Amino acid sequence: MSLLDPVWTSLLYLVAAVFFILALRGLSSPRTARRGNLIGAAGALIAVVTVFLSSRLENIPCILAAIAVGSAVAAPVARRVKMTQMPQLVALFNGVGGGAAALVALLELSHAGDPWVRLAIVFTLLVGAVSFAGSGVTFAKLQELMTTRPVVFPGLPAVMAAVLLAAVAAAAVVVFTGSLPLASLLLVLGLAAGILLVLPVGGADVPIVISLLNAFTGLAVAASGLVLGNVLLVVAGTLVGASGTILTRAMAAAMGRSVAGILFGAFRGGSTAGSTAVSERPVRSSSAEDVAVLLGYAQRVIIVPGYGLAVAQGQHTAAELALALESRGIEVDFAIHPVAGRMPGHMNVLLAEANVPYESLKEMGEINPEFKTADVALVVGANDVVNPAAKTSAGSPIYGMPILEVAEARQVVFLKRSMRPGFAGIENDLLYEPQTSLLFGDAKDSLAQVLGAVKAL
Ligand code: TAP
Repeated sequence: MSLLDPVWTSLLYLVAAVFFILALRGLSSPRTARRGNLIGAAGALIAVVTVFLSSRLENIPCILAAIAVGSAVAAPVARRVKMTQMPQLVALFNGVGGGAAALVALLELSHAGDPWVRLAIVFTLLVGAVSFAGSGVTFAKLQELMTTRPVVFPGLPAVMAAVLLAAVAAAAVVVFTGSLPLASLLLVLGLAAGILLVLPVGGADVPIVISLLNAFTGLAVAASGLVLGNVLLVVAGTLVGASGTILTRAMAAAMGRSVAGILFGAFRGGSTAGSTAVSERPVRSSSAEDVAVLLGYAQRVIIVPGYGLAVAQGQHTAAELALALESRGIEVDFAIHPVAGRMPGHMNVLLAEANVPYESLKEMGEINPEFKTADVALVVGANDVVNPAAKTSAGSPIYGMPILEVAEARQVVFLKRSMRPGFAGIENDLLYEPQTSLLFGDAKDSLAQVLGAVKAL
């Protein structure tokens, strides 16, 4: 017997759905993101408890054991994961969601008499399996368990087309006959399609594909809601599908790429990863004291944070340096590129953690016209997002990506450890320009040394 009647169940589902919508709203700004996340988690808790209280469940000990095992694995992983590994974690969680939806659909097939329900089942099976396998490959790429470069082999498009055709044929038969063996074959074909879809995607494009697969999982979950007759799954899945699609498009636009180009670019022979060759040209290296003099006697400084700042965990020292400069009457801003770091909003989160005021964080469109008025652009662990090759070098993996125009500043200082390139694996000519100097070392150490030297001026 269930403890909740249908009216209360619907009401609680409505509350959970409203929580999910408020969560998305909260997540749209760094200022409210933490609260948005908590609201989303509360919505999920309400949903799970409602399912428990409103359904006639069998195998409750097994369900509780599965929840316990899932929580015991996921909670410590989520607590311990480094901020820079967040995209991999999202890929894993996302893949598990798609896989779960596909398994639920497979199990429901034996109860589904209506062809329309079986249509929702084959959709869930196929899209959930694509998302599961595709997310597994993106995880392996980002975790560097396999090459991050595009993997293509002769005949890949033909194999992909054959898999998709076979999947459509199997899906049609399952809709009309409800055949379990063919549904299992469809699951396998979906897994193969997921792997083949993501293998040719390389380097910097992998996070966009994670977001796309996230949207796929949302659609699979929404379809599983139709299968199970659960409105909340339809609502939550649709929200994930829509927000994942919007994020995918926004990230692709920020990188100056099209989603089709990301997925199928490698088929056309245009690799999305670059060469990692480093040239022998001379560069101007600086000491912390030199940099402190440049900064300490400037009127306007723009700090450009990137992935290296996150790796070095130098955000607190960067914030302290900004304060020390401001106390000398210098105007300081942080320039935020939409894809700096390794996940959307990475720099916002990082700098918010160090209590840098939101007013000091300037988005690319706002800050770009201001570089020409800056005395110094201090580039801390960023490379691709300031690389002029994005404008000048057709064929480069970042060609077309809008960049932060640091070259317009009177002086450019890079804090990095070596001459190694960034994520896209391509050289940055700006490092060799006469107005550029480099302070080599870990970003946090270098910032601390510069901070000490500024205070001593
Ligand atoms: P990158 O181009 O990856 O450059 C990072 C720089 O940081 C490198 O020059 C590296 O040089 C330096 N670095 C690394 N560790 C450091 C440390 N401990 N101390 C000092 N410097 C350090 O970073 P970016 O400019 O932020 O660009 C982001 C790239 O990632 C783009 O290509 C973007 O497309 C891609 N991407 C973005 C996302 C999102 S959504 N944000 C997701 C995935 C990928 P050294 O090794 O010489 O120190």
